[in-house]
Order: sequence, then C-alpha cells, then structure tokens
Amino acid sequence: MPTELLLLFLLSWLVLASTATVNQTETKPGCQAECGNVIVPYPFGIGTNCSIDSSFDINCNTTFHPPKPFLGDAEVVQISQGEIRVKNNIASICFNRFGNMTSQISTYFKWSENTPYTFSSTKNKVTVIGCDTLVLSSESEGYNASTGCISVCGKREDVIDGSCSGIGCCQTSVPKRSKEFYATVTSLNNHTGVWSFDPCGAAFLAETEAYTFKASDFYDITSLEDVPIVVNFAVGNQTCREAKRRRATMACKENSYCYDSIDGTGYLCNCSAGYVGNPYLNQGCQGLGLGLLFLLVGGSWLFHGIKKRQLFKLKAKYFKQNGGLLLEEQMSSREVGVESIKLFTEEELKLATNNYDKHRILGQGGYGTVYKGILPDLSIVAIKKSKTIDESQLGVFINEFVILTQINHRNVVKLLGCCLETEVPLLVYEYVSNGTLFHHLHEKKGALSSLSWEDRLRIAAETAGALAYLHSAASIPIIHRDVKSANILLDDNHTAKVADFGASRLNPLDQTQISTLVQGTMGYLDPEYFYNSQLTEKSDVYSFGVVLAELLTGEKPLCFQRSEEQRNLATYFIVSMKENHLFELLEADIVNEGKTEQVHAVAKLTKRCLNLTGEKRPSMKEVAAELERLRGFQRHLLLGQSNEQRKNKEHEHVDLYPPPLDSFCFDAASGQPRVDREDESYEDQSRMTARSAMEAIRIKQTNCTKMEHDFEKLIGALKNYDPGMEDST
Ligand SMILES: *[C@@H]1O[C@H](CO)[C@@H](O)[C@H](O)[C@H]1NC(C)=O
Ligand SMILES: *[C@@H]1O[C@H](CO)[C@@H](O)[C@H](O)[C@H]1NC(C)=O
Ligand SMILES: *[C@@H]1O[C@H](CO)[C@@H](O)[C@H](O)[C@H]1NC(C)=O
Ligand SMILES: *[C@@H]1O[C@H](CO)[C@@H](O)[C@H](O)[C@H]1NC(C)=O
Ligand SMILES: *[C@@H]1O[C@H](CO)[C@@H](O)[C@H](O)[C@H]1NC(C)=O
Ligand SMILES: *[C@@H]1O[C@H](CO)[C@@H](O)[C@H](O)[C@H]1NC(C)=O
Ligand SMILES: *[C@@H]1O[C@H](CO)[C@@H](O)[C@H](O)[C@H]1NC(C)=O
Ligand SMILES: *[C@@H]1O[C@H](CO)[C@@H](O)[C@H](O)[C@H]1NC(C)=O
Ligand SMILES: *[C@@H]1O[C@H](CO)[C@@H](O)[C@H](O)[C@H]1NC(C)=O
Ligand SMILES: *[C@@H]1O[C@H](CO)[C@@H](O)[C@H](O)[C@H]1NC(C)=O
Ligand SMILES: *[C@@H]1O[C@H](CO)[C@@H](O)[C@H](O)[C@H]1NC(C)=O
Ligand SMILES: *[C@@H]1O[C@H](CO)[C@@H](O)[C@H](O)[C@H]1NC(C)=O
Repeated sequence: MPTELLLLFLLSWLVLASTATVNQTETKPGCQAECGNVIVPYPFGIGTNCSIDSSFDINCNTTFHPPKPFLGDAEVVQISQGEIRVKNNIASICFNRFGNMTSQISTYFKWSENTPYTFSSTKNKVTVIGCDTLVLSSESEGYNASTGCISVCGKREDVIDGSCSGIGCCQTSVPKRSKEFYATVTSLNNHTGVWSFDPCGAAFLAETEAYTFKASDFYDITSLEDVPIVVNFAVGNQTCREAKRRRATMACKENSYCYDSIDGTGYLCNCSAGYVGNPYLNQGCQGLGLGLLFLLVGGSWLFHGIKKRQLFKLKAKYFKQNGGLLLEEQMSSREVGVESIKLFTEEELKLATNNYDKHRILGQGGYGTVYKGILPDLSIVAIKKSKTIDESQLGVFINEFVILTQINHRNVVKLLGCCLETEVPLLVYEYVSNGTLFHHLHEKKGALSSLSWEDRLRIAAETAGALAYLHSAASIPIIHRDVKSANILLDDNHTAKVADFGASRLNPLDQTQISTLVQGTMGYLDPEYFYNSQLTEKSDVYSFGVVLAELLTGEKPLCFQRSEEQRNLATYFIVSMKENHLFELLEADIVNEGKTEQVHAVAKLTKRCLNLTGEKRPSMKEVAAELERLRGFQRHLLLGQSNEQRKNKEHEHVDLYPPPLDSFCFDAASGQPRVDREDESYEDQSRMTARSAMEAIRIKQTNCTKMEHDFEKLIGALKNYDPGMEDST
C-alpha cells in the first residue's frame, strides 16, 4: 500500500477516534496485561486487586519461559468473552508386544465447589482413541454420572482419519454444569492383535472443534495435550435479575447488558449493540458507528504496524548510535577471533533476564547494573547495563570492545558480547558463580574465614598475574583503574577472576575529562593519581597493595568504625609495620596457620606496593612473580615439584589470543572509519621496541584524536607481545 494512502487512513482514523476515544486496554489500570503469550482481560487479573474476586486470580508463574498463567491447577491457554481454554490432561494405557502393560495414567480434574467454572457442555466432548480401548469417565456436579465409550477395530485399514464413529475413535458428550472429570482407560485384550499399529489407548476431555482424529495419534499421545478444554465462567453467584437489584455490586458497567450463564450459576456481561470493549470495566464499552468500526480495525492495525516500524527504527538508531555499524564493519573486515564476539538482540537479553527482573540483579553501582541472565542454551551470563556513550568516542568504544573480547586469560572475566540495539549498550560477560573476594573476606556468615592462607596466596597470585598480563602485554598498558576485592570474583573452585578489566574504557569520557576526572574507589585510590591525575599502571599496583592488605588482615580498606588513624587500612598497615606490631593486625587464622615466613614476605611486598611514590612501587609483573615464587616455594616444600615443572605450569596460565592486527582508526568527528593505508608503518613498528613505536605514532599523528592513537599503540604493542617475557624473572 502506498504511504500516502496509509497516512490518509491514519488521519481519518485519528479524527474519528478523537471524537470517540476507544480504550485499548482490557485490564484493570495498573495491572499486568499479559502472562507469557496469554492476554489476561478483566474480570481476570494478575496480582492483588487486579481481578473481580479471588476466584479470578491468575497465577502467572515466571519460572517458565515464557511465563505460564494458572487458574488453580489448570494452565490457561486463552481467555475470551465468557469462556477460557485450559490445557488438557490425557488418560492413557500402553502395552508391549507381549500384551504386558507398560504404563497406565488416569486423569482427574476438579474445579472447587465455590469457583464459577464448569466444563462447557456444548463445546467439549470426551474423546477416546484406540483399537482395543474401554474408557470409564465421570463428569458430575451433584449427581454421579458415569459414561463410557468403547473403541475397537480389527485392522489398520478399518481406521479412517477424520472419522470418530467407534472404529478407532469414539466420543461421548459432557453433561451440563460438570465441574469434575475423571477418566481411566482399560483394554479388553491387552492390545494383542492390534499392537502392530496401536500400542496405546487414550481418553481426554477437549474442545470438539479443535480435534480431528488421526490414526497416527496412536503413537503420539502427548501431542493430544495441545487440544484445549473449553471452560465456562460466570461472575457473581446470582441470576441477572437478582444482580440488577443491587447496583453497587453489579459487575456489568455502563453501555453493557447482563445475561445468565447457560452452564453455571451466575451471569455474564456483554457490551450493548454499537459498543465494543470490556463490559466489566468502568467506561469499558465505547460507542461506535459501523464505519468507525471499520476504521478502528484498519486504524489499530495501522497503528500497530507503525508502532512496530518505529520500534524497529528506534532499535536501528540505537544500534548506530552505539557503534553497531562500526562493529559490524570491523567484524566483516577481520579474519580472526570474530566468532568470539556475539551480538545479542534486545529480545534475547530481555528474555534472559526475565525482563530485567530485580531479583536477577547481581550488583549495582556507579558503573550501572549487572543482571544474571540465562540464555536459551541454559548457559548463565552476567549482563551489564552501563552508561551512555559519548558519540565522539564511538570508534574508541568499539575498538576497545573488540580488544577486550579478544582477551582470553583464565583469571580475567571474559567479555562475551554485547547488545547495541538498546538505548545504552549492554555488555555480556562470563558468569562467575561464587561471589566476590570482598564478600568472602568481609561478609562471611560465621566468625571464621572460609579462605585458608594457601587460598589467599593463590588468589593474590592469580589476580596479580592477570593484572601483569595486561599491563605488560601492551606498551599502553590496559589499566584496570578500579582494582578492589569487590572486582575480584571467585568461581566454584575459588579461582580468582578479575572483573571489569578496562571497563572504564568502555565508559569513555569526554577527552578533556581524561586527565581531570579521577576514577576509583575510596580506600583503594592511589594517592599520587588522586593528586596529579596522572594515571599509570602503578596506580593499579597501589590498589592491589590494598587488596593484599585486606587478604592479610581481613579488614575492610576503609572503615569508619576504626579510630581516625586506623581508618584507612593502607596507612594503618604501613604504620603497624613500621612500629613492628604488624602481627596484631593480621587475621588470627593466618597467624595460626603458622606460615610466618610467607606472611612476612607478603607483608613486605604489600608495603612496597603501597609506596606513596608510584615509581618506587614494583611493577605488577614483579609482584606476580614474587607471589608465584612464594607459592612455588610452598608447593616445592609440599610436593617436591621442580622449578622446571613450575615454569611450565606458569606458561599454561598465559593463553592470550592476540587480537587481529588491522590498521584502522576512526575519524572522531564523523564517526566514519578512516582506513589507514600505510600498513608498512605497522610493520616498522613491530620491529621497534614498544617505546619507540609510541614515539613513531606520535610523530605520525594526523587528524585522529589522542585516544585513537592510544589505541593504535595498544594494537602495535600487542603485536610485539612475546609470551616468553614471563621467563625474565
Ligand atoms: C481507559 O480506561 C481506564 C479505566 O477503565 C481509564 O482510567 C482511562 O482513562 C481510559 N483511557 C481512555 C483513553 O479512555
Ligand atoms: C486493595 O483494595 C482494598 C480495598 O479497595 C484496599 O484496602 C487495599 O489497600 C488494596 N490493596 C492493594 C495492595 O492495593
Ligand atoms: C511455578 O511452577 C513451578 C514448577 O511447576 C513450581 O514449583 C512453583 O511453585 C510455581 N510457582 C508458583 C508461584 O506457583
Ligand atoms: C509379561 O508378564 C508375565 C506375567 O505377567 C511375565 O511372566 C513375563 O515375563 C512378562 N514379559 C515381559 C516381556 O515382560
Ligand atoms: C456419588 O458416589 C459417591 C461414592 O461413589 C457417594 O458417596 C455419593 O453419595 C454419590 N452421590 C450421589 C449424589 O449419589
Ligand atoms: C491381560 O492381562 C490380564 C492381567 O494383566 C490377564 O489376566 C489377561 O489374561 C490378559 N489377557 C490377554 C488377552 O492376554
Ligand atoms: C454468593 O457469594 C457471596 C459472596 O461472594 C456469598 O456471601 C453468598 O453466600 C453467595 N450466595 C450463594 C447462594 O452461594
Ligand atoms: C456479545 O456481544 C458480541 C458482539 O456484540 C456478540 O457477537 C455476542 O453474540 C454477544 N454474546 C451474547 C451472549 O449476547
Ligand atoms: C562458594 O562455594 C562453596 C562451595 O563450593 C559454597 O559452599 C558457598 O556457598 C559458595 N558461596 C557463594 C557466595 O556462592
Ligand atoms: C572446578 O574443578 C573441577 C575439578 O577440577 C572441574 O571439573 C570444574 O570444571 C571446575 N569448575 C570451574 C568453574 O572451573
Ligand atoms: C618508597 O620506596 C623507597 C625505595 O624503596 C623507600 O626509600 C621509601 O622509604 C618508600 N616510601 C614509603 C612511604 O614507604
Ligand atoms: C586534517 O583535516 C583537515 C580538515 O578537516 C584537512 O584539510 C587536512 O588535510 C587533514 N590533515 C591530514 C594530515 O589528513
């Protein structure tokens, strides 16, 4: 249809609709309108005060995906005017070739006495299928009525699909007002003689129109569960005449009429002629001419169509705004590692987090919110909703994103993918099951720490290794900026995983802010960085020193319950060491474990990390090596492991998949990729040391922003990265 015609349609609809505003909602205001795929109109409702009375309460069970609505024990599949459809239960019996029964299932279904539900006598039938099948069923209310039905046949050829007349299939009707259904299936000859084409017999109550008999159903009894049962309902427990006498409790609102239910006791409402809507809601029935009806149908169809398009356009806009196109371009132009980047859709993540259910929140902070998500393949991920991206930093954001997805270190939480269709990008990370180190150290339930000294030393060494890896893998180190025990996650085996690696780079700031805005967490913040805003990898070393102090003392880095001079753990620790009463500060368990030499060595290392002058602090690589040495010393004593073996082990730790090395760079102003054709300059760089490469790029600096050059340096340096450098200690 041409757009003009569509617009004309929409316009006339709007004009007419404004004279008679039609209420689209079928649910009580403020109530949930649907559960899974089922729309729940009033008088039904989900949650407190949403239904007309408690027997209309729908229990929306969200443990299912999608959620499923239940009315009592019955799963509801549809709710419409005057009737609902619920899921069926099949009674069955099956035999093996020797005539031995292999299974027998009876069904029993009952609406409680004081509920307004009955099985529709006009729309349902009890259907029995099988060639040697006898069914006793009973559907009763107030009187005991048992009905039965026998279905027999001799040969497969006798059974005719679509014909339910006693050969292979029979049906009996359902009495009025039945609230209960019971069926049990038996056999006359244990299916001997018919087993080759009919091993089972079955019986079920279901909507007659919705089922067509097929001989193949003999083999596939469970498929019959999809045929629903029609259930009638009524509001109130009076007749219309009685109800009309008491206007206050009358369920039929204005512009509607009341009629008595045929099956149950009670009444129902319908909009008067010329009105449509929900007769149970105030102003639920709206006026309406015939032409308008047509326009309304056309218009709402159009409206939904346009809404859908708008949503699609919005998604596309966000996708572009968040750098999706740049990412796609990069992904298509690269050969390596691209499979490891997954682009999630908004729906996938909505489903995974159960629509960002607050019970799924794993953590919240200045950086955004982290949700636990369950993907369709049942794998668990952590989904981070971060902040908006500055448009001028798009290229950088995407580049950083790609780099971080390529980092594959056993002690770094892996970045799996992202979703760019949403207003703020969502980042999807590996899920680490066992909480944070902070939690283990400071929020433990019992009085005793769950972490042994050996565990602590290992966690320290693993964390240091991860930090060293990214500090030294590049000439422009990937600086964590927020090293703290709350960012060190532990998995089932208490293996440390550093979270949020370089995440601050994924929340890029305005370029002018880079040098002025200090990021970090109080108690861990490098004082030097705090004063001169010069961020170096030594800031991470300081923060890591605080983590070491936490591991040694079990104290929080900043605690206002401690006296003023002891408030800051770093200061407290250094002073205690100086005054030679460090052992008073150490956690009792650690002292008791008696690894005094190791503890002393770690305390000394901690002191070096906490040196106020960044330059005086050891590098992360030295720290990692020292911790590994201490661990190795321990292992050596325990296991008699040779140095040679240990070295080999250390190698296994480093499993870098270096990012693919294209030359790319983005024009910050237009957001368009600028292809750098001087590929040979990268060749040159790879021959240079990291430092001279940095200089080379600085000279080559053209119209790209400083950030982009940082990025190029990073790429260049990763190219130079030699895993063998770990050996130098
Ligand atoms: C729709 O109905 C609800 C309650 O029935 C009412 O609060 C709301 O104002 C109505 N909206 C329109 C547009 O009529
Ligand atoms: C439900 O409605 C009753 C009466 O109208 C009211 O007292 C009660 O606070 C409501 N409950 C909720 C949860 O809104
Ligand atoms: C949802 O269904 C599950 C599985 O049948 C059940 O264990 C759970 O109790 C139900 N939850 C509610 C709220 O009914
Ligand atoms: C069938 O049942 C009979 C007795 O009921 C038993 O003796 C026989 O072993 C069973 N056959 C099989 C195959 O289970
Ligand atoms: C229906 O049958 C049950 C037992 O089968 C009996 O207790 C009950 O009295 C019967 N009801 C009527 C109305 O006959
Ligand atoms: C069917 O099984 C019953 C018991 O399970 C047995 O008594 C009867 O003889 C069997 N009938 C045939 C025809 O095998
Ligand atoms: C009808 O329902 C009301 C409240 O829902 C109850 O008080 C009354 O006893 C019922 N009347 C009958 C005849 O069941
Ligand atoms: C209720 O109204 C609809 C639409 O006006 C009509 O099709 C239906 O037959 C009515 N039902 C009853 C029971 O009056
Ligand atoms: C961590 O794992 C241990 C056992 O592996 C378990 O007992 C403990 O509850 C877990 N802690 C958390 C916070 O998940
Ligand atoms: C924990 O260790 C066990 C045994 O070594 C291993 O099977 C399991 O995969 C480990 N779990 C994790 C999350 O690494
Ligand atoms: C920092 O380290 C240097 C060299 O190791 C040392 O002389 C100095 O005392 C240290 N400063 C502090 C505050 O620990
Ligand atoms: C930098 O940009 C300006 C205009 O944006 C252009 O005239 C100039 O040629 C560019 N310089 C280089 C080296 O690309």
